[in-house]
Amino acid sequence: MSNNSNMPKEEGLDNSLKLLKEGYQFIINRRHTMQSNVFETKLLGEKAICLSGSEAAKIFYDNSKFKREGAAPKPVEKTLFGEGGVQGMDGEAHRHRKAMFMSLMSKEDLEEIRRLTKKHWKQAAEAWESQEEITLYEEVKKIITRVACEWTGVPLEEDEVALRADQLSEMFERPADVSLGHFKGWRARAKAEKWIEELIKEVRNEERDVEKSRALYAFAWHRDLEDQLLDEETAAVEILNLLRPMVAVSIYVAFTALAVHQYPEKSKDLESGDENKLQYFIQEVRRYYPFFPFTAAKVKDTFTWKGYTFEEGTLTLLDLYGTNHHPDDWENPNRFEPERFREWENSTLVTVVQGNGSPLIF
Ligand code: HEM
Repeated sequence: MSNNSNMPKEEGLDNSLKLLKEGYQFIINRRHTMQSNVFETKLLGEKAICLSGSEAAKIFYDNSKFKREGAAPKPVEKTLFGEGGVQGMDGEAHRHRKAMFMSLMSKEDLEEIRRLTKKHWKQAAEAWESQEEITLYEEVKKIITRVACEWTGVPLEEDEVALRADQLSEMFERPADVSLGHFKGWRARAKAEKWIEELIKEVRNEERDVEKSRALYAFAWHRDLEDQLLDEETAAVEILNLLRPMVAVSIYVAFTALAVHQYPEKSKDLESGDENKLQYFIQEVRRYYPFFPFTAAKVKDTFTWKGYTFEEGTLTLLDLYGTNHHPDDWENPNRFEPERFREWENSTLVTVVQGNGSPLIF
């Protein structure tokens, strides 16, 4: 029996359908009606606590209070993250696995990703010249699929570019899809995991040569804390944890084009080519436009925060979209204002759109 009598609470046996209906507004609406950045509700048949704002984000990312294991609902695991991946790990094992990812994010690596993006974008733009019109989002998915595969060392034949771009995008386009379309995401993940597992096997059997600096080589030979190689499925899930989110950046490219269209006045600064102004614009696109509505964790051990009790094992959601639009943290949060990032460096504000880590800016 929860003794959290003072935590604002939404009544109802289960509010999952309201969540599906209200989407990005679900937590914001209740934050308004309950005038609280913390409230309790019922989701997927269990008690859930919802958090909003940068203060709550700090507690949510305190790994001594929250764990990731078992937090992602099955439909998200079967499409977006895959099973056994870094997002569902905690403690030393998580730090060790995450270090494998971060070892690939050197300045040289990011510089190479920039160079490859320019190369493949230029080639695509030359092809667009002979076309009446293009669908930018669809084209960019293919461009970044080429970039991600070349950077990670994953071979990609010309005739499979569209197929792989579809498979990688189905994984982030379908998690919240409640129609049969959701299973297209499952199928895409199953096929993509098979594709990468074969490559991992070939690398380990020395049937395929890959540069040592490439992710495909690093993940194929990565050893966990017990000095064991990852099984082929998990190694494939982790390679896809690079390819998939890189292709997902296509959504931000589409949002950037939308922002230029919606806010021509604010876009004028981009013409100067000033790197800082470009960064302000990109940060504001990441803050302003919706991507993941929220992220999930479970309470590790019962603790109290601001007089509220967080009981061990309780599903807890951090409102990513709502935190990036929270009036406690952002002036005129619903206005598109790139200039707000001019002083950002010295501010404590965080955009939590990509969790709590520092963003990868292409
Ligand atoms: C489209 C842009 C992206 C968005 C919106 C995004 C969003 C997120 C979010 C919300 C999380 C979960 C954080 C949490 O647990 O609370 C996450 C984790 C992660 N993302 Fe991204 N991401 C993006 C791009 C990328 C890219 C390009 C990469 C790598 C190339 C990447 C690699 C990761 C990894 C490895 C994790 C797990 C971190 C951990 O377990 O500590 N993401 N991302």
